[in-house]
Amino acid sequence: MTVCSAPGKVYLFGEHAVVYGEPAVPAAIERRARVTVDPRDDDHVRVTAEDLSLDGFTVEYTGGTGDRPDVDVPTPLVDAAIGYVDAAVRQARAAAEEPDAGFDITVESEIPLGAGLGSSAAVVVAGIDAATRALGEPLDRRELADRAYRAEFEVQDGEASRADTFCSTMGGAVRVEGDDCEPIDAPNLPFVIGFDGGAGDTGELVAGVRELREEYRFAADTVRSIGDIVRAGEELLADAVPEADPSRELLVELGELMDFNHGLLAALGVSARSLDTMVWAARDAGAHGAKLTGAGGGGCIVALDPHEETSTALSFTQGCEEAFRAELATEGVRVEE
Ligand code: MEV
Repeated sequence: MTVCSAPGKVYLFGEHAVVYGEPAVPAAIERRARVTVDPRDDDHVRVTAEDLSLDGFTVEYTGGTGDRPDVDVPTPLVDAAIGYVDAAVRQARAAAEEPDAGFDITVESEIPLGAGLGSSAAVVVAGIDAATRALGEPLDRRELADRAYRAEFEVQDGEASRADTFCSTMGGAVRVEGDDCEPIDAPNLPFVIGFDGGAGDTGELVAGVRELREEYRFAADTVRSIGDIVRAGEELLADAVPEADPSRELLVELGELMDFNHGLLAALGVSARSLDTMVWAARDAGAHGAKLTGAGGGGCIVALDPHEETSTALSFTQGCEEAFRAELATEGVRVEE
């Protein structure tokens, strides 16, 4: 039995624009997906999920064909979850050159699905790591991140950047621009997350931005402007002292950029009433800045606040189902005892 876990993430800046080659800076947070893998004697794959914002399910299918498993699933979220696990299985089989390897897989996740916290990336990263280790072929981190990206790319019909999977693999804050991915130094920023209990469809949201970009010049300019915000944010982080607590001045400046970034994402049509409400509640409570995180459409916002005010205010905000602080996860994927 091999158990690996990988963290979720928030986007400090740059989601959506990263799909078009602009830079993005996601940061891993201490909410993890844990994947347990047991090799089987046949080529079947049995997936059990305890959490994943699902009611808990088990499915078993015959693997090895490369096709999407044909199993009866109760909801689109479960369907999406199985799609990611299956893509991870295919990558692990290819990496270990064992096309018929079968597995019993259990997924336990603290990261709500489709909510902008990188649940699918964390499951894919931990799944590939656990499955390749179980087959005696562990991957180095760069190859693991690459295979996890390919799994997401496949499930999202080619609409994926390397940002979520690289961040979940490496932990900490990272910078991604096209195929160029590097960890960067960042102080432990005081993230506060607000979750509306819902989910967005990443594929649909990314496709919506693509259409807007093709139809309107303003949308292409907006994507480039998001890139400018990311570059400004990177400079601020590069000037900060990584291990020290972030200064108030840094939080104010980063927060202002996060506010701009949220406005531009809203212009691209990927915000939602619940996300805007939480963003404003966080700002009203004194957060230094707030924005949606991830694909949008519903799910989570991230705010910067070293005090308790934002988290308390969010927990009383209509439409906010859960508010919590999130520590930067300095460790990426890891083997669990
Ligand atoms: C989704 O978490 C982030 C997007 O930028 C898509 C991607 O980068 O793959 C919307």
